[in-house]
Amino acid sequence: MSTQITEIGDRIYRLSTFVPEVAPPAGFVFNQFLIDADEPVLFHCGGRRMFPSVSAAVAKIMPVEKIRWIGFGHVESDECGSMNLWLASAPQSEIIHGLTACHVSLHDLADRPPRAMTDGESIDIGSRRIRYIDTPHVPHGWEAGVLFEETTRTLFCGDLFTHVGNGPALVETDIVGPAMAAEDIFHATSLTPSTAPSIRKLAALKPRTLAVMHGSSYRGDGGNALRALADYYDRQIHAALPGRVLTPA
Ligand SMILES: [Fe+2]
Ligand SMILES: [Fe+2]
Repeated sequence: MSTQITEIGDRIYRLSTFVPEVAPPAGFVFNQFLIDADEPVLFHCGGRRMFPSVSAAVAKIMPVEKIRWIGFGHVESDECGSMNLWLASAPQSEIIHGLTACHVSLHDLADRPPRAMTDGESIDIGSRRIRYIDTPHVPHGWEAGVLFEETTRTLFCGDLFTHVGNGPALVETDIVGPAMAAEDIFHATSLTPSTAPSIRKLAALKPRTLAVMHGSSYRGDGGNALRALADYYDRQIHAALPGRVLTPA
């Protein structure tokens, strides 16, 4: 198992591990992101078995013990399975997540108390800020949320736009089509009346980079990509509930 490092934005590093056994024949990548700031942020931990490879990748960028904040989209193994290994390796680090994740799971699962963030709350990490945004059940998990780095307008969007294969670290081509194809394989998204409106709320941030956990990250009009993804989920729920009138956001 080897983890590739690519700088996808100003001191924003994508740490990517390809696992060919998942979703063959294309395979599947598991990405973490490291923001190199005065108070460095790791977004996604990876599963426990991935920790040796991912932490070795971090060590090529900075000492692992410098990590200050640890975030992730929701409580699943690939997002946070190794969180306690990171907490042990970086003694100053704290997990950040929304109130739901903290109260429902992390106060129990994490070896140190997490810092709970309210929807829209920001943290100054030194010359840049990260904002936490609640996205309950989007793409899945009651506690789901994303991080937005305001300086580079990078949205760390977790499992949104998940797609298969080991493509380039960063593309400027369409990622909505591959995401729709992957959804047809995995059906990983909780399809509810709030799915599309929640994604459109993220589009309003006008992100310039979408940092994707599974697949290539995207640089370009992130708002347009998010609206296209929301439109897709609108079509999906209308197809699933024929005859129902759903009020768009
Ligand atoms: Fe997930
Ligand atoms: Fe994931």
